[in-house]
Amino acid sequence: MAKAKMTSIFFCQNCGYESAKWMGQCPGCRSWNTMVEERVDSSGLKNSGGQLKRQSETVKPFVLSDVTIHENDKVLVGIGELDRVLGGGIVQGSLTLVGGDPGIGKSTMLLQTCRCLAGAGHKVLYISGEESAAQIKMRADRIGSFTSSMLLMCETSLDTIVETIKQTKPEIVVIDSIQTMFSDNVSAAPGSVSQVREATATLLQLAKGMPVSIFIVGHVTKEGTVAGPRVLEHMVDTVLYFEGDRHASYRILRSVKNRFGSTNEIGVFEMGQTGLTEVKNPSEYMLSGRPADASGSIVTCSMEGTRPLLIEIQSLVCQSNFGIPRRQTTGTDFNRVNLLMAVLEKRSGVQLAGCDAYVNITGGLKVAEPAIDLAIVLAIVSSFRNKSLPEKLVAFGEVGLSGEVRAVSQAPQRIAEAAKLGFEICLIPKGNINDCRTVNKSLKGIKLIAVDTVQDALDFISGNHLSNE
Ligand code: TYD
Ligand code: MG
Repeated sequence: MAKAKMTSIFFCQNCGYESAKWMGQCPGCRSWNTMVEERVDSSGLKNSGGQLKRQSETVKPFVLSDVTIHENDKVLVGIGELDRVLGGGIVQGSLTLVGGDPGIGKSTMLLQTCRCLAGAGHKVLYISGEESAAQIKMRADRIGSFTSSMLLMCETSLDTIVETIKQTKPEIVVIDSIQTMFSDNVSAAPGSVSQVREATATLLQLAKGMPVSIFIVGHVTKEGTVAGPRVLEHMVDTVLYFEGDRHASYRILRSVKNRFGSTNEIGVFEMGQTGLTEVKNPSEYMLSGRPADASGSIVTCSMEGTRPLLIEIQSLVCQSNFGIPRRQTTGTDFNRVNLLMAVLEKRSGVQLAGCDAYVNITGGLKVAEPAIDLAIVLAIVSSFRNKSLPEKLVAFGEVGLSGEVRAVSQAPQRIAEAAKLGFEICLIPKGNINDCRTVNKSLKGIKLIAVDTVQDALDFISGNHLSNE
C-alpha cells in the first residue's frame, strides 16, 4: 500500500473552491479571506467513503422502463408544512441537508420530525454531536413525549456512527450537525471543508446502500471558520434552508434543491413555548399588523414554489438632505429597486432624483421574483405623493425598462389567493387577462384591472379609472 503522502490544499470555507495556493479573494464566490489551508492525503484514491467502497463487482446497465417505483416509498412525517417542502414526504434512501443560522430552530424541527415519525412506528435514530443527552432531553420535554422507537446517541466519530447505523438499522437518521463529525481518514479538523465533505460522502453511500433516509444539519456561518452547508449542496438530494429573523417568532423552511419535488416550496412555522407549530395560512400571518390608510403600503402576491403568498410592501420616500440620495431595501433586490425608480422617473416623469427611498418587505421575507415590481412602483409613488392606496388593492406584474407591465406566471392562483383573503381590486398585467377570465367568473368578489404600462397603473391610482374587465 502506498505510503500516505500529505499535501496542502487551500479551500474556500464558503463555497468549497480548491486551490494550490492561498488567495485573499476566492475566485469561486468572490468572498474575502475565506481560504484556509488543509492537509490532505494525495496518494492514490481520494478518501471519500473509503470503507464503504464497493468491491469491483461488475455493474450492468438496465432498461429504464423496467425500473419500478413504489408510491409508498415516501414516508409522511405528519407535519403538513414539512411534508410539502419535502415534496410529499421523506423518500427512502434520501439525504437531506437542513441549513440555517445557529439558533434558528434546526435541532428543534428535526427533533419534532423524529417525534412524529417515532409516534407512527418508524425506527428513528437521532445523533447529536453538539449537545449532551441531558440537553436534548430538556428540549424534548418541551416538545412532548416520545415513543420507544426513538433512539438517541451522542457521538462525533463517523466510523462509530456508520457501525451503529448498520447494526441498529433505523429507517430515519438525523445527524446534528455535520460540522461536528470527524472521520479518521482525514487529518483536517472537524468542521473543515475536507472533513465535512468526507462525512457527507460516507453518509451518502450509506443512505443509498442500506437504504436509510438521513437528515444532516449544517450551520450557515458568516465567518470562515467552519465550512458552511453550501459546499455540500451538490452532494445531497434535498437542501432545505431555515430563514427568518431570529428575533421574530416565525420561521420559513425553504427547499432550494429537491430531487423529488418542486424547489422554492416554503413551509411556515412559528416558534413558541412547545417548539415549532405550523402556520396554516401564511398570507394572513404576513399581513397581520398592516397599518390602515398609510401611504406607501401595498399588498402583492408572490409565488413561493406552488404556493401563492400575499405580502405587504412598504416604501418611504422623502426629500434627501445630502447630495447623493440614500436608497435602502430590505427583503428585495437593491439594484432592482433602483432600476424601477429610474423607470418611474424616465417613463412617468415622477421626480425621484432628489429623494431618499426605503423599500421594505414586511415580515422578514426575501422575495426575488420580478412579479412584485408593479407593487414596488406603486408603493414608491404612493409614498412620494403621500397618498394612501385603496386598502383592498392587490397588484402584481413585472415592469420592463420601457415602462411596460409584463405578464407573470400563475396569475389565476395569485388572484384566487387575494380573493380568499377578501381583497377587492387586483391590478394585473394586460398579458394575463385572458388566462384570468375563467377564474374571475368563479370569483365574484374581486375586480380585475388590466394595465399595459406603469403609466396606466398610476392613472388608475390617481382616480382616472380604466375600462374594467
Ligand atoms: P435550535 O433548534 O437549538 O436551533 P439550531 O439547532 O438551529 O441551532 O433552536 C433554538 C432556539 O429555539 C432557541 O433560541 C430556543 C428556541 N426554542 C423555543 O423558543 N421554544 C422551544 O420549544 C424550543 C425547543 C426552542
Ligand atoms: Mg442545534
